Amino acid sequence: MAVGIFDSGLGGLTVLDAVHERLPDLPLVYLGDNAHAPYGVRDADDVYDLTTKAVDRLFQAGCDLVILACNTASAAALRRMQESWVPADKRVLGVFVPLIEALTERQWGDNSPPREVAVKHVALFATPATVSSRAFQRELAFRAIGVDVEAQACGGVVDAIEEGDMILAEALVRSHVDALSRKMPEPEAAILGCTHYPLMQDTFQDALGPNVAVYSQANLVAESLADYLIRHPKMVGPGEVSKFLTTGDPKRVSSRATQFLRRQITFEAA
Ligand code: DGL
Repeated sequence: MAVGIFDSGLGGLTVLDAVHERLPDLPLVYLGDNAHAPYGVRDADDVYDLTTKAVDRLFQAGCDLVILACNTASAAALRRMQESWVPADKRVLGVFVPLIEALTERQWGDNSPPREVAVKHVALFATPATVSSRAFQRELAFRAIGVDVEAQACGGVVDAIEEGDMILAEALVRSHVDALSRKMPEPEAAILGCTHYPLMQDTFQDALGPNVAVYSQANLVAESLADYLIRHPKMVGPGEVSKFLTTGDPKRVSSRATQFLRRQITFEAA
């Protein structure tokens, strides 16, 4: 019984933590492709190749269901993987849809035509690759009409977080929020469209001000996974042990992960 959680690096740990809290008995195998992070500056083919390799490793580790806890991989590779790569007895799910359903006040699987929703001005903060894919706007357009989305590609933030340089990460977040505010002065909602960004959530909220509702994915994805497993209990694979795998240096990655989650995390080589 194990579910796989994949991210280019440490960001998916924010999702892992929320899933663990929601489903404490579910074994989770985490894989961070730290050797190749950040993905946000790579092209779609490159992200596809790296993501399929990593997901295959999670299948080998006994996971039949893998969550791409990485918006960049979900935006640039998921659809292609689902159409032509995922074996019939496995599932790979992304992180976009739960977030957009929350923003558009929809229940899981509500496929009714797009309609007007309460929020009209949404700021999207994401990696350059996610922004240029326009996957968020595409998924939103299936569900809502009349929502103006202004996207800000937050170059450099993931690198700074992966390096553990939180002072630089904070300065970059503030300058990206500034740039966004010049394009959209009064968003009602802001989406943190990268799983690394919840580690900087307080800075985003502080820079955006108290009137902006900041949506981050971890709890929404955990809730949606719990719901999915009730409907598809067989998708919990045969793996029984929780573990943390990395393509990077396990010692270095463990120390950063322990710093971020404020509990001991020990990675092993993928
Ligand atoms: N944390 C990932 C995301 O949600 C990827 C960041 C990156 O590797 O650039 O987009």
